[in-house]
Amino acid sequence: MTEQVILFDTTLRDGEQALAASLSVNAKLQIATALESLGIDIIEAGFPVSSPGDFDSVQQIARTVKHSRVCALARAVEADIDAAGQALRVADQFRIHTFISTSDIHVQSKLKRSFTDVLTMATGAIKHARRYTDDVEFSCEDAGRTPPDNLCRMVEAAINAGATTVNIPDTVGYTTPSEFGGIITDLFNRVPNIHKAIISVHCHDDLGLSVANSIAALEAGARQVEGTINGLGERAGNAALEEIMMILKTRQDRLGLHCRADASKLYRTSQQVAKLCNTPVQVNKAIVGANAFSHSSGIHQDGVLKSQNTYEIMTPESVGVPRNTLNMTSRSGRHVIKHRLGELGYHDHHYDLDGLYQRFLALADKKGQVFDYDLEALLFIQNQQTEGHYQLRQLHVQAGSNHFATASVELQIGEQIVTEAATGNGPVDSVYRAIERATGQPLNIQSFDIAAKGGGHDALGQVDITAEFNGRVFHGMGLSTDIIEAAAEARLYVHNLIWRQQQIDQQKQQQQGKEAV
Ligand code: KIV
Ligand code: ZN
Repeated sequence: MTEQVILFDTTLRDGEQALAASLSVNAKLQIATALESLGIDIIEAGFPVSSPGDFDSVQQIARTVKHSRVCALARAVEADIDAAGQALRVADQFRIHTFISTSDIHVQSKLKRSFTDVLTMATGAIKHARRYTDDVEFSCEDAGRTPPDNLCRMVEAAINAGATTVNIPDTVGYTTPSEFGGIITDLFNRVPNIHKAIISVHCHDDLGLSVANSIAALEAGARQVEGTINGLGERAGNAALEEIMMILKTRQDRLGLHCRADASKLYRTSQQVAKLCNTPVQVNKAIVGANAFSHSSGIHQDGVLKSQNTYEIMTPESVGVPRNTLNMTSRSGRHVIKHRLGELGYHDHHYDLDGLYQRFLALADKKGQVFDYDLEALLFIQNQQTEGHYQLRQLHVQAGSNHFATASVELQIGEQIVTEAATGNGPVDSVYRAIERATGQPLNIQSFDIAAKGGGHDALGQVDITAEFNGRVFHGMGLSTDIIEAAAEARLYVHNLIWRQQQIDQQKQQQQGKEAV
């Protein structure tokens, strides 16, 4: 019998906080759904007190995800825990993850407190979090550099206060595998109530040891491991969950451990995260890199042709290098779409089949064949494009090499139809000026990227922009067979985010007004 390891994914929190531009709510939902379908046990969806946008995305993920437990981060202060509890309470079951630093260097230089104060704050926070849920995780930040006696005191106190999982992070990626495994062994030997909680580990990759340290901790008795897809995260990143999963699977003979997740979905999840986070996977990355299963030297190729296991310790199929057998065209019926979405991990509650099918037919008429990535894009991006406060009804552009471009746009803004025209120094510029007039919102466009989704002349164009408005930065995406239309949709996506942000701000003000009365 092998023992189960709980997989805790923090791509949307530790991973996201390291990205150049924050993810949109839709992108976060898409990643959370992929993680759920992969079989991740706990999804850390964000840090709700950090911004209204983060609060909103944690809430939407908590509402949507059913088969993984959703978790949110909170410092060991009541306001953070209240924000996490309020964002998560739409879910039947959820976890609050609260943390405070325990190393001397953090306690003295960052918190400017005594260790006893920190102990009191930690236990108070855990008790407060238990008012919202009986699933509370506590992390000793910088545990890897914490004096052993203090770490043992903190873990014992945290469990007594009600923490059901205690996490031991190597926050700065400083320890070596034997040292980190030793820290876990020491806790099991010295903390009297340790068996009342799950011991978790969370390792950073500053010295390239995060996965090795996590495995050493599992060998010493930890039963939850935290990490991210593709190893995204602060600085050099976190332990890559795809590597941990395949170590558990490939070396079950040695470790005697297993996890619930379905490794055959790893490649797809990795690709999705890489695209949405705009962070390509290095080609020689273990498990999911483009070269992870390619053999170059003649001697290796000869060996693999004679017997795969000469140079392969796992097969590409086991991590889901894709083989699509269904051709999706305008002749495909609803059941094909539903079936394919099921294979991709989406269930009835993730989409409205009728609406999606209409959008599928429109795209299939334009493109001929529709691929998996088109279908997923239709599911997520176009939901936003067609359901926002600002919608594109019509777009005309005239451009040529010797002239200014001229654009006219017709937008639906709430109940109103607004038409505007403008000239610009190119087609996108003229469309953006016309939209600025129609919406009355000048944006400072900070980045503009176009990527082809699929190959050939009929590929879909995806436009990604980051834009600043009133001091806040938003990320917008648009998708269309016409890149000018995709650019317009990406800009409208941002206007919709601004609109939703304004709604949230207004609700907050009204709430504060009521509380003041
Ligand atoms: O690295 C770290 O210590 C963290 C904690 C918040 C768990 O990310
Ligand atoms: Zn971390």
